[in-house]
Amino acid sequence: MPSKLIMGTQWGDEGKGKITDLMAEDCELVVRFQGGNNAGHTIVIGEMTYKLHILPSGILRKNVISVIGNGLVIDPEKLFQELVNLDELGVQKGELKISDRAHVIMPYHKIIDSLEEEKKGSLAAGTTKRGIGPCYSDKISRFGLRICDLIDPEELEHKLKVAYPVKKAYIEALGGTLDLSFEDLLATYTEHGKKIAPFVCDTSVLINEALAQGKNVLFEGAQGIHLDIDHGIYPYNTSSATITGGCCTGAGVPPKSINKVIGTVKAYTSRVGTGPFPTELFDDVGERIGSVGKEFGTTTGRQRRVGWLDLVMVRYSSRICGLDSIVLTKADVLSGLEEIKVCTHYLFEGEEMHDFPASMKKLEKCEPVYHTLPGWPEMSPEDWAECRKNGRNGLPKNLAAYVTFIEANLGVPIEILSHGPGRDENIHLC
Ligand code: GDP
Ligand code: IMO
Ligand code: MG
Repeated sequence: MPSKLIMGTQWGDEGKGKITDLMAEDCELVVRFQGGNNAGHTIVIGEMTYKLHILPSGILRKNVISVIGNGLVIDPEKLFQELVNLDELGVQKGELKISDRAHVIMPYHKIIDSLEEEKKGSLAAGTTKRGIGPCYSDKISRFGLRICDLIDPEELEHKLKVAYPVKKAYIEALGGTLDLSFEDLLATYTEHGKKIAPFVCDTSVLINEALAQGKNVLFEGAQGIHLDIDHGIYPYNTSSATITGGCCTGAGVPPKSINKVIGTVKAYTSRVGTGPFPTELFDDVGERIGSVGKEFGTTTGRQRRVGWLDLVMVRYSSRICGLDSIVLTKADVLSGLEEIKVCTHYLFEGEEMHDFPASMKKLEKCEPVYHTLPGWPEMSPEDWAECRKNGRNGLPKNLAAYVTFIEANLGVPIEILSHGPGRDENIHLC
């Protein structure tokens, strides 16, 4: 398959970074197509742990070209910082290309993000405060600055002159202050433009040429389907298109160029941020899953809320995105539990509900209906190593039953079971 798309099917943090890094091995290009440095993708290679936010997870492989597509919003300072961090860790990075059509996160976007969150009260999503929403808002209202403007001093000055007073007035109206002068901002971002220029090109041309030559291209989703701007838990979601369709707009490729869609599914559910969460656990089991799974946000360090696997959510993702296969991650975290629950549908005011509702008021009242499966024992590294040799047939009986139950409910095969953060901790099931 020359091109694959890896996406998160839940609320993010499913292990997309790990799986992208794994699958990047035989790819020429790894392409991010949406989001910004709100993402936190952790990759563990041997003793080293890498946390990527804006850089594609192919960057750790020196033979892979990493592409930041037009659908992203880029904070130049954070981008440079991430590159420096990798250099300091001695990483031999692959080549990096950045779209001239991607948007620039400005300091005022970050200030507005925080101020708006405060004003929103119970409607606040608990954002990462990275300026993502305000930057995408400017993109949609055509107020934004793109990378092609950043590298063109005249255009930058022209557009910033229009935006600056408007943003300053808005910030002040919200009770904040923009304590950067127009001149300082212009000078700083002109410098950023000079630094970023060598990486910039029309990435859609690059990607489509690679596809036409039959090269292996891997598209890397950030966030998750239930954080999508249209299909997520609005208004507690993010501001980009995280779905398969978002890959076409955010990378500039036609739908037919995506040959295989792979959904990462965490064996339970986690959420950083606010909003209804039907299968959320507040008991000892939840605490155990959170601590064994080390469920703390990669970007903000916040403790993630955890709950049982919700198949209503994943079925929705499969329908919207056309999943061809699944990578089930963090199944190891559930080892040793006596029983494991999986939500198959909801009860809303006594009625069965099999589809995820649009209304958060409704979702708040949805009671999960569970199918309970027996757990499997704790597994040692040697046990997992044995499983790796034998694939599906080597799984403990109850873990195999768990896998089969999920596949049957979703109608999608699980191709890989990930049982640890390491590059090699994977069992190939088909
Ligand atoms: P992403 O945002 O989807 O890339 O996921 P994150 O990196 O934010 O969060 C996933 C976390 O789980 C990271 O710390 C990974 O190193 C870790 N991880 C990934 N796969 C597995 C797995 O199968 N088992 C365990 N125990 N940890 C995993
Ligand atoms: P990865 O790629 C988990 C959540 C935030 C917040 C909402 C909006 O690591 O899976 P934003 O800053 O985007 O405006 O915040 O979305 N959020 C994520 N949650 N993983 C992510 O990315 C996330 N990116 C954003 O917590 O609720
Ligand atoms: Mg993450």
